Amino acid sequence: MKLTKFVDPLPIPKIIKPIYKKKDVTRYTVKMKQFYTSLHRDLPRTKLWGFNGSYPGPTFEVHRSENVHVLWENKLPLKHLLPIDTTIHGAGVKVPKVRTVVHLHGARVRSSSDGYPESWFTRDFATTGPQFKNRIYRYTNNQRATSLWYHDHTMGITRLNLYAGLAGLYLIRDKVEDALPLPKGPYEIPLIISDRTFKSDGSLFYPKRPDRSSLKNPKAKIPFPSVVPEFFGETILVNGKVWPYLNVEPRKYRFRILNSSNARFYNLKLKSGPTFYQIGSDGGLLEKPVKLNQILIAPAERVDVIVDFSKMAGKTITLTNNASAPYPSGDPANLDPNTTGIVMQFRVKVPLKGKDTSKIPAVLSDIVKLSTKNVRKIRNLTLDETYDEYGRLLQLVTNRMWDDPVTEKPVVGTKEIWKLINLTMDTHPIHVHLIQFQILQRRPFDVNHYKKTKKIRFTGPPQKPTPNERGFKDTVRAKPGHITQIIARFGPYTGQYVWHCHMAEHEDHDMMRPYRVVPKKK
Ligand code: C2O
Ligand code: CU
Repeated sequence: MKLTKFVDPLPIPKIIKPIYKKKDVTRYTVKMKQFYTSLHRDLPRTKLWGFNGSYPGPTFEVHRSENVHVLWENKLPLKHLLPIDTTIHGAGVKVPKVRTVVHLHGARVRSSSDGYPESWFTRDFATTGPQFKNRIYRYTNNQRATSLWYHDHTMGITRLNLYAGLAGLYLIRDKVEDALPLPKGPYEIPLIISDRTFKSDGSLFYPKRPDRSSLKNPKAKIPFPSVVPEFFGETILVNGKVWPYLNVEPRKYRFRILNSSNARFYNLKLKSGPTFYQIGSDGGLLEKPVKLNQILIAPAERVDVIVDFSKMAGKTITLTNNASAPYPSGDPANLDPNTTGIVMQFRVKVPLKGKDTSKIPAVLSDIVKLSTKNVRKIRNLTLDETYDEYGRLLQLVTNRMWDDPVTEKPVVGTKEIWKLINLTMDTHPIHVHLIQFQILQRRPFDVNHYKKTKKIRFTGPPQKPTPNERGFKDTVRAKPGHITQIIARFGPYTGQYVWHCHMAEHEDHDMMRPYRVVPKKK
């Protein structure tokens, strides 16, 4: 379907209102519902699933250390919108089709409120998963100001629930950030980027089986429907509209960018426009702003940027993308500069409403570097690509399946270094629940030598994280042919969490592992 670009204004997700706000707790209820909405002027209305019946869901705005309780309710129909593969982990024929569980991505939370994939529940909690603990999730928000996001995390169908629309933004504010003269109010705008393909009746298209060429034996018989190695949509949406536009004043804006796509990376540029000043990453403000002409953002990553349109009055600026799909091994020819190469448009066409008193501060925050001294454990963790029993591509971490016993068991309060040894052709955005980590380095190594001998032979010097990665992160791009090192202190809670690739098809099949933060031995 051919859709005209820049015909719909950019929607801004609503800020959600609490049910009540008392001195010691703020309480929300959020209902996951099916609804119909227009995603583009010329597209018939699309059936979606969304939090409180909207896509993206409403934005939470909370303060650091505010005690927040959320009742996440499933009010979805009993039939799924999208093709379910019953042969992958947790999605078997015996479990109900429509299951949900909500994860607040990047949050420091107790395991029982983390949205463990097997803690799913069906409509009105009629059936619950083997690890279901409690209905109300408790978020202490005891962490730096930043943009988190919430999304479905159900075992074996996360890719489908996410694609159906179950995602939204969650902003934590704090005094450090409030004291800075950043653009505020109408000049602080979320940009939630995702990709979708539509059928001509406006409904969502999601493939029912992979390309035969991706199979070990292209003639093999495979289950139907079957998971695909990755999904890439043909149109790009921002805040739930296809290729929208935004009228802006000639002044500074702060954009809270989130890539909520299943698998697509974006390398963002402002064509014939101003540069970006990145001020924050997944875990909040950087130490100082980083000036960039382009920003690469993988699924689940967030970037907080300031764009100054003050010298652009009268101009029209396009936000473009030139990341291949998959990244970086995808054929660049697959990226059409006229479709998936375009994200949205800014029109500097409205007069300045008042003096722009916002600034790009030279210093933003303190980042205390985690020292590599007193590291309790260094783990070598491979990212692997192989085939499953049907000969379908299968991505793994540590070469183990989800159901294998837990192998990563950090002791609460201690530091660990995780070395992500990427043996595949692609960059995988690796996300670790509970913690915010720091990136130490990436270093190229000989993949074939490793595959033969299990020994690491480096082929070049270590590379420091780029300046915009030198803050806190919860999702790191593990580059192919590189060992990416991250460091974190695990805690403050003990309990079972997960770590995984955030390309949703990889996560579902089977690039996700449980990990457990264990108590100190006395
Ligand atoms: Cu954004 Cu494990 O999730
Ligand atoms: Cu992956």
